[in-house]
Formats: sequence, structure tokens, C-alpha cells
Amino acid sequence: MNTPIHDFVTRYKDLRPARFHMPGHKGRGPLGCEDLDLTEIPGADSLYEADGIIAESEANASRLFGCPTFYSTEGSSHCIRAMLYAAREACRGIRENAAFRVLAARNVHKAFLTAAALLDIDVCWLPLSEGSYLSAQPTPETLAAALEETGAKAVYLTCPDYLGFLPDLKPLAELCRAHGALLLVDNAHGAYLRFLTPSRHPMDLGADLCCDSAHKTLPVLTGGAYLHVKGSRPKEPGTGNGSLAPPDMTEHERRAVRDALALFGSTSPSYLILQSLDLANPRMERLPEKLAAFLPRAEALKARLRAAGWCLVGDEPLKLTLALGPRSDPSPGKGPACPPSGLALAALLEQSGVFCEFADPDHIVFMLSPEHTVEELARLETALLNARRKLPDRAAEVPGCDVFAPRSGTMPRRVCSIRQAMLAPAIPVPAAESLGRVLARPGVSCPPAVPILMPGERIDRAAVEAFRYYGIRSVSVLP
Ligand SMILES: Cc1ncc(COP(=O)(O)O)c(C=O)c1O
Repeated sequence: MNTPIHDFVTRYKDLRPARFHMPGHKGRGPLGCEDLDLTEIPGADSLYEADGIIAESEANASRLFGCPTFYSTEGSSHCIRAMLYAAREACRGIRENAAFRVLAARNVHKAFLTAAALLDIDVCWLPLSEGSYLSAQPTPETLAAALEETGAKAVYLTCPDYLGFLPDLKPLAELCRAHGALLLVDNAHGAYLRFLTPSRHPMDLGADLCCDSAHKTLPVLTGGAYLHVKGSRPKEPGTGNGSLAPPDMTEHERRAVRDALALFGSTSPSYLILQSLDLANPRMERLPEKLAAFLPRAEALKARLRAAGWCLVGDEPLKLTLALGPRSDPSPGKGPACPPSGLALAALLEQSGVFCEFADPDHIVFMLSPEHTVEELARLETALLNARRKLPDRAAEVPGCDVFAPRSGTMPRRVCSIRQAMLAPAIPVPAAESLGRVLARPGVSCPPAVPILMPGERIDRAAVEAFRYYGIRSVSVLP
């Protein structure tokens, strides 16, 4: 598989050009990669009007993913906004002037909320589920009931979620189809799922639109992402993973997706990131074999950690999530009476030079990759095995740790729309004194950027508890 973007930039660099165009570093600088960074000079194509090297590279990615695939250099955050806009446009014909109603699980990344505010989406939330705020996968029964009740024209799921739960999307996709609703999936954490055998990628399980953060699980620079779209022309019979004939789109449909991306994207996409996406294509050709070799090692590591008394949750192969909360420890007799906090564990591991993806009082998340060396995996294992003996009690670490990710059993009360709340003036108040106020901004940092309460909802006791639990000290509310 060729690499047209990187090849073009390399040829240009080798000319040792006198650059009288952007960027201002002129190809030299302290990073050492400045000579590979350029802008839309003749021949370099243009991301949102691609018909040259970028279109050629995207066609390579489309063949790998088995569906029309578009690049972004601004992450899934960008693709989520474009995906919702494209879905709204696709539904416009069906429901003329009606608001675009989307049924979503509440563990959305905050990019969904900015999209909902900008596009004035009428969001209906799927019923609350037990456990962490970071996981909220619907069952087919809850989804069917909610589709009946709301008549939503699109369903939006975050799958896999931040903790590595990966429900089977197929029955959910079938339900969406039966109700005439589009299925949109935030697959930020699951680009690699396409290369499992069989594929567990949302586009192969029936999603209509889906975004992947290439940079999260593939060897791609931060910011590299894909927007995948179900082609309107059917797949040719007998084609599968790596097929040379993915479903296609008409030029008009393709234009509409590029317009959706352009609406929210910078006019100066990074050519470093574009090259990284381009160079990932031939590497992805080899990914099925690399994953097949790596996954048994990852599974063996997980099994050894379980045997050592750690409680692992989630079913995503490349996530290693330890659950530390009292309710999730299956062997209370074995572990400490009050398990350690994920935060304490993360701090301890850092002393051994091991850095996790995310930790909260209940969980610690590690992202595994076939790019990891044997030595790195051994360091993680040794550090975790040693940590069990050294950790302080969670009680000493987190005051009031008796509650596990506190959630109210009732849906928070909506006072105004997400758009009204997020575009209104807001004032900061201490989170501990915010009871009864209306939340104006999601107010969650990254990672995991999953909101506790949605803008426009009244802050209830459970939310105040959860702010404290997640260390959120100040929230923005309506005046
Ligand atoms: C579930 C989820 N969706 C979307 C995003 C946004 O992705 P990106 O950082 O590629 O913009 C993230 C980022 O952490 C995420 O965890």
C-alpha cells in the first residue's frame, strides 16, 4: 500500500526548498521534524477538497476499514461534531423542520455536548445504569423502549467506553434499523477493533457513522482521527476485511461529509499528522497478524494479574482496567478490607516509571498495544505485583470512600436545553455549594471528559457528591 502524502512531503523536503510560504519555521527548528511540516502548496492537496494525494491516501484507509473513511487532524472531538452535523443533514429530508432528536447514553465525551449546543440537538438520554459514570451501555430492551418512547432519528453510543466495556453492537444496530434511526458511534478508543478476527469495529456491526481516534490505539500522532461512513452503494459480494472493494459513496455524499468536517475544522490541518495517518496504512495491513500474536500475551498478563488478586473488568482486548471499588471486588476475603484507590496506585506506579492512562478512586486504566515491548509489559506486571503489598488503604486516601461512584437513581431534572445552557453567560461556584443551581458547562477535564451532569440540568445531591468524589472543586452554573 503506497504512502502518497509522506512521499510528496519527502520529495519536497529533499529539494531543499527556499520556503516563502507558511509555516513560519521555514523547515528548521528545535523539534527536528519541521522540514516535514508544510501547508497546502501546489500538489499537497487540501483536506476538505481532497482530490489528490490526500484523497488517494484516504482511499487506502477506506480499503482497510471497508467503508468510506475521511481523515481529521483534530481528533475524534472534531469528527463527533461533523458526524452529528452530517446525521442531522441526512435526517433533514425525513423530518423537514422537526428538531433533530438524538437518543444518547449518558457517558458521552464532552465533544458530544459542544456539538449538541452548536447544532441545537434535541438530546434524549437513555435510562441511567448502575456503576461508574464512565460506563452506560444500553441493553437491547432499554434501547427498544427508549426508541419507541422518543421516536429519535439517531442513536449515539460511546463504544468502547473509557473503562473498556465493549457491548455487542449488532443487536443494537438492528434495533436502530428497525426503528428507522441512524446509529452513530463514538469509537474513539476502538480503531484497532477492525483488525481483530472477526472484526469488532462498529462499522462492521451495523453503525451508520462512526469516529475513531487513530492516535489512541494505532501508531499515529496525537490528533489523527477517522470519520467512517456507511457507503450507499452496497458492498460487492464476497468481500471482507482488507477488501479492495469497500462500499462507496456518490460524489455528492462525499462532498457533504467533507463539508461537515470543514464546518468544524481548521483551515490549516497538520501535515505531520496527515503523514502519520498516511504511514499508518501499510502498518495496518500487517495489524491483524500483529494483534493475533500480541493478544495471547495480553490475555496471559491479565490472567496472571487476576491470579495475584487484582480484579479486572471490561472486555476490550487492548484495555487493562483494574476495578478497586468495594462493590466490584469479587474476592473480599483476599484483598485489603478497604481496597486502595486508583489514584494512590497510579502515584505508586509512577515511582517505578509506569504511567497509566487514567485513574479514579474506583479504577485504573492501562492501554495495551502491540507496539509495547516485552520489557515494558514486564515492568507493568512487576510494578502491579509489588504494589499490592505497598499500597495504603483506600480509606486513608479518599475520605468517605464508602460510596462507589455515587449516582442518583433518578434522572437529573432538565431545566433548559444544552444549547441554552452552554451558550449562556456562566458563573463559577464552589462545587460543594452548587446544590439546586443549573449547570452551564460540562466542567470535566480530560481524561475522561465524561460529564457527571449535563448542561441545563439542575444540580442534585448525587451530583454534588460525585463532584467531590471526582475532585471537581468548582462548577460553572447559570447566574
Ligand atoms: C470516548 C471518547 N470520545 C472522544 C474523545 C475525543 O477524542 P480526541 O482526543 O481524539 O479528540 C475521547 C478522548 O479522550 C474519548 O475518550
